[in-house]
Amino acid sequence: MGIIINNKKDTFHLCNQEISYIMTVLPNGQMGQLYFGKRIRDREDFSYLLETIGRPMASCVFDTDKAYSMEHIKQEYGVFGATDYRMPAAEVIQENGNRVSEFCFRDYRVEPGKPKLPGLPATYTEKEDEAETLVIGLEDERAGLRLELMYTVFAKGGIIARSARFLNRGEQNLRLTTAMSLCLDLPDSGYDWIQFSGAWARERQPKVRRLEQGIQSVGSLRGHSSHNHNPFLILKRPPADGSQGEAVGFSLVYSGNFLAQAEVDTYDTTRILMGIHPHGFEWKLEPGGEFQTPEAVIVYTDRGLNHLSQTFHRLYRKRLARGYWRDRERPILINNWEATYFDFTEDKLLEIAEKARECGVELFVLDDGWFGRRSSEHSGLGDWIANSERLPDGIAGLAQRMEDMGMKFGLWFEPEMVNPDSDLYRAHPDWILSAPGYRRSHGRYQYVLDFSRREVVDHIFGMMEKILSGAKVSYVKWDMNRSITECYSAALPADRQGEVYHRYILGVYDLYEKLTERFPHVLFESCASGGGRFDPGMLYYAPQAWTSDDTDAVERVKIQYGTSYCYPISSMGSHVSIAPNHQLNRSTPLRTRANTAYFGTFGYELNLNLLSEGEQAQVKEQVCFMKKYRRLIQFGTFYRLQSPFDGNTAAWMVVSGDRREALVGWYRTLVGVNMPYTRLRLQGLDPGLEYHVEVQGSYVEGPSVHEAAAGMHYGDELMYLGLITTDGSSGENEGLQSCDFDSRIYILKANDR
Ligand code: DGJ
Repeated sequence: MGIIINNKKDTFHLCNQEISYIMTVLPNGQMGQLYFGKRIRDREDFSYLLETIGRPMASCVFDTDKAYSMEHIKQEYGVFGATDYRMPAAEVIQENGNRVSEFCFRDYRVEPGKPKLPGLPATYTEKEDEAETLVIGLEDERAGLRLELMYTVFAKGGIIARSARFLNRGEQNLRLTTAMSLCLDLPDSGYDWIQFSGAWARERQPKVRRLEQGIQSVGSLRGHSSHNHNPFLILKRPPADGSQGEAVGFSLVYSGNFLAQAEVDTYDTTRILMGIHPHGFEWKLEPGGEFQTPEAVIVYTDRGLNHLSQTFHRLYRKRLARGYWRDRERPILINNWEATYFDFTEDKLLEIAEKARECGVELFVLDDGWFGRRSSEHSGLGDWIANSERLPDGIAGLAQRMEDMGMKFGLWFEPEMVNPDSDLYRAHPDWILSAPGYRRSHGRYQYVLDFSRREVVDHIFGMMEKILSGAKVSYVKWDMNRSITECYSAALPADRQGEVYHRYILGVYDLYEKLTERFPHVLFESCASGGGRFDPGMLYYAPQAWTSDDTDAVERVKIQYGTSYCYPISSMGSHVSIAPNHQLNRSTPLRTRANTAYFGTFGYELNLNLLSEGEQAQVKEQVCFMKKYRRLIQFGTFYRLQSPFDGNTAAWMVVSGDRREALVGWYRTLVGVNMPYTRLRLQGLDPGLEYHVEVQGSYVEGPSVHEAAAGMHYGDELMYLGLITTDGSSGENEGLQSCDFDSRIYILKANDR
């Protein structure tokens, strides 16, 4: 790894074994992008990469040159208004109303490791030799504005982390209306664009289309990263696929409004922008003021989409997630939400917990409804004091009872919200976000607290701190159940209202930081009506997130499959729930619900007392299985094998670091009769090792599947020829009948000989 600087040519070459990122100071002082991709050797002079040819209708920078136009130059942080007509990385309005900027190179510095971003989540290093950071200083003299572009190259993996900082060194007030984290101009448009979109209960489903001239973008204006679009994007060079070819991933470490955009111009060059969504954003920079953008992470691979995902997984698992739980196996939990909703007493909770404990579950999580006068969605949010009618000895008493039973105890909060029917709202009606004189829209009968205000964040911290320090709580589920509307703060002046969305999310981060610092051993799981804020910003504070409110196994395979393109398995909250499922009314076999939920943090979300004895015995086996394999699942190398979006079957696998152990999850939606022969090509095994293959979780001890797949097979057979997954059902032999929504887990272990 290194940053090679050629002072004579003003060129910077960031590289490691896998990638090169090359940029240069352009003749007009702005920064130009020369190359980003597979590692190339350094050379004295890369200026030949700067292509400028005179084009008709071009607007030109220099009086004597008809060819040099920013419109046709690949840049590092393009601005609008002086010959570049593409969407800009930054826009600054000066006191005289001028919006033209010109950021020219001034200086640079190189720092070992990676500096922190104040108040913001970001990837980090533990040792200085893990990464190197280049900070390029630019200046717009007329505006008195300094811009620092920060680039970190990691020693391992094709990873570059970027962000920008604006420093007002002049004497006038400036208005920053666009401040992207990343701008990358690529020389062509030969890519497929993959976005991860959906809605509540069907989050992060990959949508693929060819990049085309014009602008294509996804984003959020909801105040949270959203169920609808994830702050993650892949550009894939056809014919790249799961196991081969070039791709670049772009991920924003941020949980608020975002924009991820590709603009392809009429000469087929592509500009990628990623950062805070400029709509509704305006930051006042007073003299001496600074603004730091969130971080964006770019990953390049020439080894296919699984490798791209694995690079993100490793980085986000080890150098974005933090704290006590980062590297630890996650507790198997039972959550009472789908078991009781708001209808519970302490005795009922203890009954659910006792059966779960008997089955080997380790943690009981008390969800919504334990506080204030919260008997429905209509009241109580904001009053973080235990409801003494339901919990006579408070949270402390219940937590102690759980501990005495041998269970850890976890608790649900929704810290950012308030119901109008609550003591908090009655005491502080001005603490919510609302536009003066306008209707206050509710979501789930609740308002959003104004987290841009320090006193609001401090007050909520005080209430949560009291509960968490007064009881044995080892886990917190932090929920957030509505999007922001009427985003106006009573505490900020008119010219700072464009800052509220961002200040809000900084307030959320501040509360997370305070709580995780004060309670370092508590495991935090983030949640936003399921997966409405499943983003890297949250992972910095909470190493796991509730993936979706949809707990149906068939839908979950899709959601978890889509989520895995960027996020590690250890981050995906996944539970077994009751059949028929509460979201879809679909009944799937208990084994399939477990076979899906294993590939995440694993837990249950139902009253196990309502299951038959046979099912309870299955649950015990499932818990044993997960305890045995959770290290491999949560911290192994994950491969997507067959997409649920492409057909009737889906498959994925995890492989241990030493490649001696692996688990394969296989899922089929509908059963067929007299089905074709099928083989599944595995990945990541050692071709020369012989593996013992065992099938588990299948419907019946049927000879065909078991005999063909089970037994000893070399890694090369399993990867190149495939694992036989042919189903036994011929339609004639009843003993072999499979069913809809079937699934299997294959356990692979290398032979010791
Ligand atoms: C939405 C969450 O996603 C659910 O798991 C549950 O916690 C409810 N909120 C409680 O209101």
